[in-house]
Amino acid sequence: MGKVIVIDGPAGSGKSTTAIALAKKLGFIYLDTGAMYRAVTYKFLQLGFSDFSNSSKIKNNLSNTKIDIKPAGDGLQIYLNDSDVTMQIRSDEVDGFVSEVAAVDQVREYMQELQRQFAGHFDIVAEGRDLGTYVFPDADIKIYLVADLDIRASRRLLQKNAAADNLKAFRDNLTKRDHIDSSRKHSPLKKARDAIEVDTTDLTFDQQVEEIYEICRKKIG
Ligand code: DC
Repeated sequence: MGKVIVIDGPAGSGKSTTAIALAKKLGFIYLDTGAMYRAVTYKFLQLGFSDFSNSSKIKNNLSNTKIDIKPAGDGLQIYLNDSDVTMQIRSDEVDGFVSEVAAVDQVREYMQELQRQFAGHFDIVAEGRDLGTYVFPDADIKIYLVADLDIRASRRLLQKNAAADNLKAFRDNLTKRDHIDSSRKHSPLKKARDAIEVDTTDLTFDQQVEEIYEICRKKIG
């Protein structure tokens, strides 16, 4: 396995943008584990699923679900059974269901295995929810990003180019997802005991990248 830096934290805490910039600075490959859960969610929604509690139906469908992650420029391209779904997995519909799908044990175990395989090939900066606690307990560096809910909601609003009167809906969506992500039984969102917490509420993007880059430089040279 190559070097592994993990960044965990709640939705909208700045994990993706920070992980992409950090990977670029370090010359590592970026792994967006949320995108993998999104790709499976997209597939299930395409199939018309709305109930994710039937584990044998989920299991059967997972066995013919091929997810490929290919480094592309500074980011990643996500393929679902050889179709590029990089854009589709960011839809509001996927946003609305992804936490429910990510709470299904079979889905988690399948994704976690793929994530470990990916780390076998590259030095990576990976972002997610359970990486420091569960997927990569021996990661070289563990960062846990947090930020106030209001700040996270406004960042999402900007990212999606949405009008200001959507702020409450964004807040509600983040609150719901955080609750599902941190209360599920299997590998919930949680700070690893040996993770370094970075609060990005009052930091600019450049400051948060610089702070984490410095932590990495000191630890892995
Ligand atoms: O980071 P994101 O918003 O793209 O993540 C989408 C969902 O996937 C999120 O609600 C929680 C879930 N997720 C997870 O359970 N474990 C991970 N390692 C990454 C994401």
